[in-house]
Amino acid sequence: KKIAVFASGNGSNFQAIYDQIQLGVINAEIGLVVCDKPQAGIVARAKSANIPVFSFIPKDYETKSHFEREILDALQMHEIDLVVLAGYMRLIGSTLLETYANKIVNIHPSLLPAFPGKDAIGQAFQARVKVSGVTVHFVDSGMDTGPIIAQQAIEITDEDTIETVAEKIHKVEHALYPKVIQELVSK
Ligand code: GRF
Repeated sequence: KKIAVFASGNGSNFQAIYDQIQLGVINAEIGLVVCDKPQAGIVARAKSANIPVFSFIPKDYETKSHFEREILDALQMHEIDLVVLAGYMRLIGSTLLETYANKIVNIHPSLLPAFPGKDAIGQAFQARVKVSGVTVHFVDSGMDTGPIIAQQAIEITDEDTIETVAEKIHKVEHALYPKVIQELVSK
């Protein structure tokens, strides 16, 4: 199977998935990286892994469906079966949702439905919750909504800082996402 990874930032989840593919733990290939910020870390990571990149600047387009049509062309050209969002900081529109129905997944750094949206780690830390975690879910038109596939919890203690919470969350993400992706591609 061929997957596309969509991201806007550093790409540490991309890297974790790529590494598990190289190790033979995930039976898939990353056929395309899609990025809405040409300067983002993920673009350099993808290039050094020789993975094709479609990067674009959203404000160069009239509407979301204009750039999503180009993304769709790239997905189809590379025969992508599964779309994996990993820190892609925008909502998926109807153009992609209709064609890739139930084939788009996202990872979010909280136990949804708690703390959707931006800075979920900061939101959870400020709320002083004692348990937070990571959610992988199918994507629908909402913000971090859609049926949940997997969740894993972490504890937040009085000794934790926002940095140590973020570290715990990212560690869980880098193990959980590859595991879920392997389950999805083996179906
Ligand atoms: C992750 O925390 C993910 O849960 C969130 O965005 C972050 C992306 O990090 N949606 P990275 O770019 O994979 O390092």
